[in-house]
Amino acid sequence: MVEESSIGFWFKGYDYFLDQFNATKNNVLKRRLLFKKYYILRGEEATALFYDQERFSRHKATPKRFKKTLFGLNGVQGLDGEQHKARKQLFMHCMNVDSLNQLNTYFDEAWFEAVEDWKAKNTINYFDEMERILFKCACKWIGLPFTKKDIVNQVPRISRMISSAGKIGIQHWRGRSARKATENWVKSLIKNYRNKKKNSDTIFDHFIGYKNPKGKHLPDQIVAVEILNLLRPIVAVARYMTFNLKALEDYPSYKEKLRENYEEYGENFIQEVRRFYPFFPVISGRIRKNFEFKGHKFTKGQRVLLDLYATNHYAKLWKAPERFYPERFMNAQISPFNLIPQGGGDHYKNHRCAGEWITINLMKRNLYFLIYDINYTVKSKNLRIKKNQFPPLPANGIKISKITKLR
Ligand code: HEM
Repeated sequence: MVEESSIGFWFKGYDYFLDQFNATKNNVLKRRLLFKKYYILRGEEATALFYDQERFSRHKATPKRFKKTLFGLNGVQGLDGEQHKARKQLFMHCMNVDSLNQLNTYFDEAWFEAVEDWKAKNTINYFDEMERILFKCACKWIGLPFTKKDIVNQVPRISRMISSAGKIGIQHWRGRSARKATENWVKSLIKNYRNKKKNSDTIFDHFIGYKNPKGKHLPDQIVAVEILNLLRPIVAVARYMTFNLKALEDYPSYKEKLRENYEEYGENFIQEVRRFYPFFPVISGRIRKNFEFKGHKFTKGQRVLLDLYATNHYAKLWKAPERFYPERFMNAQISPFNLIPQGGGDHYKNHRCAGEWITINLMKRNLYFLIYDINYTVKSKNLRIKKNQFPPLPANGIKISKITKLR
């Protein structure tokens, strides 16, 4: 009998499989979730296996409920082989140094504009502000025209696509309707763009003009999904920025260390925030052909989950994993398969997150600004996160007040 784990996973969240991996001293678990059988994997070796495209496929791997909220239908996440490689190139094309620098500049501008506003306000919700800043700089970077009304309408919808992904009932349905509304907004921008027939050198133009390996343009629906595969996760970086703030509050000694030596501590701090705090719990795949691993028979069609959180909290890879300790990255051997908050493997060939460099860059700039640019007081009292919230957010976003500029 394979154990049904849905209720346990629901109540204990990120720690549920982590505790079972630790208790059984086994990095392969066989469980049921919503009555379907899954192998659940963790660790460096298992991650390397999971990214072996001969053995694992992404086609029909992710349940529809996540596609209808978080990812969208027929996007890059569900493609395999040559089709995936070609579509992935569409994203990686925008990840060159000049383009990333451009996004950094837009982020800085939006940050400084917002700080002027905050000085006049009593209190702000830090997460909400970061989402708006990121929406603005992402739209500029992609080349999406937007109005003040679009910020008011689209930011909460994008946020809901992310927060509803792990929800059921009414919240799930609100996530679906948010996705539909934002896809429609992007589709209307595509239509306007086509009507104007104005060629430009933007990412938006590049996505609209993209032809698949068969020489065909993508339908507008899929272009909208893929544009949202840029816009949505850039807005999601607000969650990591909120964890930056939380970590500075929970481990205040690092404020001093960062002030003294940002060059050395900045990168390590960011990496530890990404390793330590929960975001994506798992990613899913399907077995392509029969094979054996660690004495388990994996059969074609079988569902598999790679546990990202449990790998980032695996004591064999990360000593004292439940300790927030940025210094661990001073000597850490980071491989493509051990630090995997944004997936593993190769950015170009595998499904590893296309926006990992963007995430790291933006988190670093945000941390720098928190240290050197503003003074603030954290007003929220309880910054604890709920491990059964997918993904969690401390204090509904953390309220800060008494914001003054340092420079
Ligand atoms: C894929 C996490 C930010 C674009 C992924 C995956 C994870 C992830 C876990 C799946 C990897 C896999 O299936 O093997 C995150 C987290 C982020 C983040 C935690 C921080 C907020 C970004 C950003 C962008 C982005 C900023 C783009 C600007 C993508 C795309 C994929 C992806 C396009 C699909 C890649 C593929 O299927 O080949 N991300 N991501 N992500 N991410 Fe991110």
